[in-house]
Amino acid sequence: MIDVFDFLVIGSGLAGFSFAIRASKYGRVAIVTKSDALESNSYYAQGGIAASPLSDSDSIQKHIEDTLKVGDGLCNRDIVELVIKESRAVIDELISWGVEFDRENTHFHLGREGGHSERRILHRKDQTGAEIQRKLYERIVENKNIEVFESCMAIDLITKFKFIGRTFDGVEDECYGAYIYDKKSKSVETIFGKFVILATGGAGKVYLVTSNPDIATGDGVAMAKRAGARICNMEFYQFHPTVLFHPKAKNFLITEALRGEGGILRTKDGRPFMKKYHPAGDLAPRDVVSRAIDTELKRSGDECVYLDVTHLGRDFIIEKFPQIYEKCLSLGIDITSEPIPVAPGAHFMCGGVLVDSYGETSISRLFAIGEVAYSGFHGANRLASNSLLECLVFSKRALEKCLNYQKKIHIPHEDIPVWRSEKAVPQDEKILISHAWDEIRRLMWNYVGVVRSDKRLRRAWERIQIIKKDIFEDYWRYYISDDLIELRNIAIVAELIIQCAMMRKESRGGHYNIDYPFKNDIEFRKDTIV
Ligand code: SIN
Repeated sequence: MIDVFDFLVIGSGLAGFSFAIRASKYGRVAIVTKSDALESNSYYAQGGIAASPLSDSDSIQKHIEDTLKVGDGLCNRDIVELVIKESRAVIDELISWGVEFDRENTHFHLGREGGHSERRILHRKDQTGAEIQRKLYERIVENKNIEVFESCMAIDLITKFKFIGRTFDGVEDECYGAYIYDKKSKSVETIFGKFVILATGGAGKVYLVTSNPDIATGDGVAMAKRAGARICNMEFYQFHPTVLFHPKAKNFLITEALRGEGGILRTKDGRPFMKKYHPAGDLAPRDVVSRAIDTELKRSGDECVYLDVTHLGRDFIIEKFPQIYEKCLSLGIDITSEPIPVAPGAHFMCGGVLVDSYGETSISRLFAIGEVAYSGFHGANRLASNSLLECLVFSKRALEKCLNYQKKIHIPHEDIPVWRSEKAVPQDEKILISHAWDEIRRLMWNYVGVVRSDKRLRRAWERIQIIKKDIFEDYWRYYISDDLIELRNIAIVAELIIQCAMMRKESRGGHYNIDYPFKNDIEFRKDTIV
């Protein structure tokens, strides 16, 4: 029997979970996730979720202006307005789902981060993402209309043009489902969905240093690109200024909320340096802080700078930031009495699959929501703690569009081929895969990182073509595996980032090229669309 779900959701972060919970009132939902259901970028969000107005001094307008300013000229004002105007409503919905935010007496305790003119960040200590995801997951497991497929990884989207053939009568391409690799049984299944929702998150693993967990390999962008969807603004990869720098700490973020409470960045010899780079000092937008650290490190030859929070007081730190305190202590750093070694790391993909104001891509019935998408909300650089907000608002809007779909929905199962791998052979040299992973991540870090140049980008482009050719040959020769699927995906994402970065001959937001150190509004105040 062929199983067709009403909604096939790929990814289990906040975008996927919130879509699934709402959609389950109207039909059957499948959530496909390549690891455990709780493993996602959303789960590790420390700082929180921005909303407005939450205090007497704040307003929707101020939040809109902060978002536009950090977005550096590329945000879509209409999208920014609609998302922020919806922020209180989606927060109320989260609370109705059981999520708890920190309070002081009857009021919310509001955090502050870089680029915000007001305190407006709801949080649960320094584990906001974990609190939200756990509460939503509790609802999902009890829900008879939602089926969760863990350890199941989407390989490719099934679209009309690719699998049935292109018609030349002006008909749009449409999406029917995806081929899914079950990591446990090592088999490939076909799952159909009347609506397919990409909620696969970001691609931090394309870089050597990242705050993201291992699953962040850009699978959604790569699948959408292979399916022929439009991709946008991939040059704007956001680097978080403060990822813990320690040989034993992998991908551990030191939240910006610590600087919001007064934390100070210092060089190895104890000198504060941020005021030199921006009037907002340690609370400047992230791209500014990351570049300032990069400059300081290149000048001194050091490997990291230090975040000093010792003056905030032991009890305050332990009470408000227990996870960071414990993690650092486990590595021998007592942050209440010594500074934290930090360095920038890839954090958030501001570009992604281009979507309309309801999250639909250029392929009908294929939606992309959350970090995988480019909606116009973040522009060239994302304002801190705006990402979870985008997930919630766009998952709501995407469902609205699905429920009002006017066009007839037909899935031609009989014409869609099953996955075949008869000609493949076992991969006998795993070193080929691990070496290519390492090569891409170093290449991206060294040539397409915080600071870029034409020469570095050209060299990165030439190298990625060679690496990609080898990976694609292996992909078709050997039995499929999760490593190989992810490797093919990060190679495509790397190529897209390099391609977009080469197209933008200016510096703006998260993209800085030393050969064009200034913004050029006349030629480049526009999206980079591939
Ligand atoms: C942080 O807590 O510093 C990260 C929050 C975000 O990326 O918005």
